[in-house]
Amino acid sequence: MHEFKYKNNRLYCEGVSVEKLARKFGTPLYVYSYATLIDHYSKLKSAFRQINPLICYSVKANSNLSILKALVSKGAGLDIVSGGELFRAIKAGCPAERIVYASVGKTDGEIRVSIKRGILSFNVESIAELENINRIAKIFNKVANIAIRINPDVEPKTHKFITTGKLTNKFGIDFNSAYEIIIQRYKFTNLNICGLHMHIGSQITEADPYVAAILKLASFIEKLKGQGINLKYLNIGGGLGIVYDKENPQTAEKFAQRILPLLKKTGLKIIMEPGRFIVGNAGILLTKVLYIKSTPVKKFVVVDAGMNDLVRPALYDAYHQVLPTSYVPCPSSYEKVDVVGPICESADYFAKERKLPYVLAGDYLAVMSAGAYGFSMASNYNSRRRAAEVLVRGNKAFLIRRRETFTDLIRDEIIEP
Ligand code: LLP
Repeated sequence: MHEFKYKNNRLYCEGVSVEKLARKFGTPLYVYSYATLIDHYSKLKSAFRQINPLICYSVKANSNLSILKALVSKGAGLDIVSGGELFRAIKAGCPAERIVYASVGKTDGEIRVSIKRGILSFNVESIAELENINRIAKIFNKVANIAIRINPDVEPKTHKFITTGKLTNKFGIDFNSAYEIIIQRYKFTNLNICGLHMHIGSQITEADPYVAAILKLASFIEKLKGQGINLKYLNIGGGLGIVYDKENPQTAEKFAQRILPLLKKTGLKIIMEPGRFIVGNAGILLTKVLYIKSTPVKKFVVVDAGMNDLVRPALYDAYHQVLPTSYVPCPSSYEKVDVVGPICESADYFAKERKLPYVLAGDYLAVMSAGAYGFSMASNYNSRRRAAEVLVRGNKAFLIRRRETFTDLIRDEIIEP
């Protein structure tokens, strides 16, 4: 469910016509719905209300400060993966005790500031990292909270690039090694190993892989209890899938029905790290048609957004619905086209062989479900300025990031004297 709907054949974000936004702010333009964002957060929160989990929104999905602030002010914590994301989390007003930090490659500097700030937990991915955090915590005479990221070796049935919980992936620690670490935890004088973490992949549309992984973690937790070791936290990661095309992902309620009993049994405080589920369908990318190009074999709709704005189709062959912002309900006017960007790569496309209503240069199109991993993966490739972002609340639209300027493009460059 989301708040992008046609009214009188015009696409609206909540109470605002998106065409009006395109004219006012220019294109390419990311448009987010506040109501959708908060609704998705609340759906998860309410589905799991019996255990009151800490929902740490995954900043990487969309790291705009206004998005972070909106969620933090509703009680969300944040899941970060870099010093830059920690900086954003603090700027958005997130209390350190609601921040969890995952990444296989945390630098000394990143570890240092996180310890100084007193984040809730480091999700640790290797023994070398554990030793390093212990060393740095000792220098500051602090004790850092640690959750061991377990690699449960389960198949999440998603794209191979976003599968993370198989032993062949670089993420997490296998059960045997984790057991050894926890048994010998007294060796790490400045660490409090108090949790387990897992994140098995992204865009997972069914509960089975989670059930499989949680069952493995639950029996590991029991094994530790048998040794008199009682942990405090279980972080089950993110990964909940959304509708892009014809997927039929589980709802938050259905997901909760399946895993709540398992989570309750552990007796631990539950943390979750959803990104896409919260923000994916809360955003669209608006783009303008520049040219219609017909070749002997194809018709191309050339638009002003490119793979630098939204890389998901190029990178994962991902499907995004493409909708006209003014809808003409006439079936005979549909035709099969490729919607492509202006970038010098054949992977620069948004839709291939897609049935779209007849469009003309100057029309606007909406690339749907672009709220997650859209702007946050945008680049300046082809020296393109990154798009502006707008947040709609009811009948009001707020510019939450201005369009980059040409000066921004060269701001950090130094011409050799
Ligand atoms: N926690 C950890 C440790 C993660 O690595 C991720 C995502 C999340 C949470 C949030 O996952 P989500 O709930 O959003 O699925 N760029 C790809 C997705 C990469 C996901 C990376 N990790 C895409 O556009 O599909």
